[in-house]
Amino acid sequence: MKERLQELQQEALSKVEEAVTLADLQEIRVAYMGKKGPITEVLRGMGKLSKEERPVIGELANKVREAIADELDQKKAKLEDAELEKKLAEETIDVTLPGRPVQVGGPHLLTSIVEEIEDLFIGMGFEIREGPEVETDYYNFEALNLPKGHPARDMQDSFYITEDLLLRTHTSPVQARTMGEYNGSQPVKMICPGKVYRRDTDDATHSHQFTQVEGLYVDKDVRMSDLKGVLNRFAKQMFGEEREIRLRPSFFPFTEPSVEMDISCKVCNGNGCSVCKGTGWIEILGGGMVHPRVLEMAGYDPKVYNGFAFGMGPERIAMLKYGVDDIRHFYTNDIRFLKQYHKA
Ligand code: PHE
Repeated sequence: MKERLQELQQEALSKVEEAVTLADLQEIRVAYMGKKGPITEVLRGMGKLSKEERPVIGELANKVREAIADELDQKKAKLEDAELEKKLAEETIDVTLPGRPVQVGGPHLLTSIVEEIEDLFIGMGFEIREGPEVETDYYNFEALNLPKGHPARDMQDSFYITEDLLLRTHTSPVQARTMGEYNGSQPVKMICPGKVYRRDTDDATHSHQFTQVEGLYVDKDVRMSDLKGVLNRFAKQMFGEEREIRLRPSFFPFTEPSVEMDISCKVCNGNGCSVCKGTGWIEILGGGMVHPRVLEMAGYDPKVYNGFAFGMGPERIAMLKYGVDDIRHFYTNDIRFLKQYHKA
């Protein structure tokens, strides 16, 4: 029996030595140490032994077991270490691999042009104001001298939300809001960029949602020549020093007198071409002297204060400046269009 146990130990230890995976070790453990293993088998035959021999063989059997278990544990630790090493080696990062290029975005053309307009007017002392896109009928129309039923409301087809709320059709309500806030207490010099909405059918030059920049200057001695001077500076800075401007009489309910401003066509230099439809001029914005009723409703005494206002569409400005031929390009976000106007 002694020999058999020693033999088993030899056998088990050499198998452990040969084992290459953790699964091999588990197999050996089950085979030798399990209840149905050969050692248990040997112990089962102990009944036949003499009293003296029994404890000796018992002790030996335990030692054999321990020896095998020790060896199994040690080998297990070794294999686990080796496995970890292998994993670490496999996962090393190759820092020499070329990187994947990162796609860098840039501001949308419309964002850039609005910022350019803002910078330009900030340079002339205007502050930036904002107002709500969901506007009351009062600020969008009434406070701008467009009472209910006024035919000029039809100039701006509107999206009404309730009888009293609508998506603003222009940025002019922000004039009325800003003046109303100051309530006649101080001069106002502001521009307001923002989105506006009209019930138009979208085509190359119309969009149901577009952008406007409003301008307003109210003080004690503001003249039409001030309006002309400011707009002339704007036109030259935006489109080039060689551009000329021209004011034509027009009509807006909130300005009197009202004007429309043209710039000389930069394609033909004012000689007439297809872009300016042979006139040599291109219309870019509307404006005028703030109507006394509008001043009055906002708390400004029209005998003391007067002012000018104007409104322009940044899409139109960008289209003219960069030769964009369809307003829908600003909203359909074709990546090729967007990339073309990214500033470096
Ligand atoms: N609000 C006018 C429009 O949308 C533009 C404008 C603004 C005209 C200010 C005069 C003064 O058509």
